[in-house]
Amino acid sequence: MLKGTAPAKINLTLEVLGRREDGYHALASVFHTLSLADEVELAITPTDRSRSLEIVLEVEGFPAPANSRNCVWQAIERFWAATLFKAQVHVRLHKRIPLQAGLGGGSSDAATVLRLLTGWAQAQGMPVPDLQAIAESVGSDVPFFLQGGCAYVSGRGEHVEPLPALPPFWWVLAKPPSVGVPTGWAYQQLHRPPLADSALEAPCTKKLVDALRQGPISTPESLAPYLHNDFEAVVLPAFSELQALAEQMKRLEVLRVLLCGSGATLAGLCHSEAHASRVAHTLQQKGYWSEASCLVGAG
Ligand code: C5P
Repeated sequence: MLKGTAPAKINLTLEVLGRREDGYHALASVFHTLSLADEVELAITPTDRSRSLEIVLEVEGFPAPANSRNCVWQAIERFWAATLFKAQVHVRLHKRIPLQAGLGGGSSDAATVLRLLTGWAQAQGMPVPDLQAIAESVGSDVPFFLQGGCAYVSGRGEHVEPLPALPPFWWVLAKPPSVGVPTGWAYQQLHRPPLADSALEAPCTKKLVDALRQGPISTPESLAPYLHNDFEAVVLPAFSELQALAEQMKRLEVLRVLLCGSGATLAGLCHSEAHASRVAHTLQQKGYWSEASCLVGAG
């Protein structure tokens, strides 16, 4: 049995620059992994049957699809297509990261499975396929999760440049249980011009990347002014439940409320672990999904 953890992510900045010809958008973002994580277990049983790949997927916790709509399934199929190994792959996913939440849970699960499959293939003496290409084909956030930690992410999500990780600053994550934001819809609401007509500037991301390289961010208070997400302008006005949640979080004295990816989770930057736990507890009592979670580095 192979085991791995699949961390959630937060976008400390997220700027959407323009529409590409392939229908995706060019973005500039600083991604950071969080301590909140799904657990992944993989059992690979070699088979000599004529149908060489068999996938069994079990899901516990948040109800992700246990079929080919799950990124994990797609990652296994694409790894198989590149290597043609003969095996039954039995995956058990324990989902602690909510779905359609902007926390990257499905992408992270897929990247973790790709890493576990790679370790297994190496141990079998099999050639290892081009993981970056497989990750890109499964989803825009999957390449980041192959490394995790802190990174400057650009292109459609495929260019990932590692940055020094921040200290384990604490956040409260919270989501109204009935709100999910489809990523494609959120991008459309931005009405970005074609890339050729766009200014390719991402001032908020550049400022944070420079600060991370120079190292002046040593407290959560000094991180707060750098946080930015372009989606806040279109997603928050569309969901009154998110506006109400943001107000509650501000009353609980978080330093900054930040939309996670394209939503629907809101992350509140906290002064300390005790502050984050206290706010999470209060929000849970009001019926929200909520967890305290801190920033974590790679691996
Ligand atoms: O790649 P992924 O499956 O995560 O993307 C979901 C949807 O989000 C895409 O179909 C696309 O509409 C939108 N998207 C985008 N630009 C990106 C990433 C995602 O327009 N860089």
